[in-house]
Amino acid sequence: MNKKSLLSLLLALSATPVLADDAAKLADESRAVAMPFLKQLAAENQKAVAEGGAESAIKVCKEIAPKMAGDISRKQGWKLTRVSLKVRNPLLGTPDVWEQKVLKDFEARVAKGEKPETMEFSEVVQEPAGNAFRYMKAIALQPGCVTCHGSAEQIPENVKARLTEDYPHDQATGYAPGQIRGGISIKRAL
Ligand code: HEC
Repeated sequence: MNKKSLLSLLLALSATPVLADDAAKLADESRAVAMPFLKQLAAENQKAVAEGGAESAIKVCKEIAPKMAGDISRKQGWKLTRVSLKVRNPLLGTPDVWEQKVLKDFEARVAKGEKPETMEFSEVVQEPAGNAFRYMKAIALQPGCVTCHGSAEQIPENVKARLTEDYPHDQATGYAPGQIRGGISIKRAL
């Protein structure tokens, strides 16, 4: 094979779409990381509320969650973040265009009666930097979350004071249980 045909063969190979089997495997692996992350956060939240009350649970969403997301990202070599259409912390939680589209679609799916607990979406996307596998798992608002993400009447005064001080641009209130609070977003270079 001459150099030119070898080159075109390599180019053809690199353009081969990810097979359905591979995409399913990537989704399985992503889910296997996203689900325990969510479960552990809910457990940390319950523990913090039980031990020190609502105000002390702020650290779970503020410190523990971003730290866990960072640890997982480093360990897996992926990018794992929590994103939302209505963010409390715009620095960490602002969704990119793909994430916004998926989160809006999740809301539409909930409106049609689908349960957020099992809701997910994944896709291989082509970007200038190369192909990437993207996965999003819905984060449902649970009853324990309304203390800090519910209506004004549901948020205790001491918590409200802390939130107003730390997040003057907070948009992450007014949620009811069963709504989509956001998503766990995973991006993996292929
Ligand atoms: C005690 C208060 C408190 C409780 C309870 C709480 N959160 Fe949060 N949440 C916060 C704070 C504070 C932030 C901002 C974190 C940061 O600075 O990155 C936040 C941020 C988030 C974010 C990241 C996106 C954003 O808006 O910045 C998600 C997702 C989230 N919370 C989901 C939940 C879910 C789901 C529950 C219930 C299981 C929950 N939270 C319970 C205080 C709370």
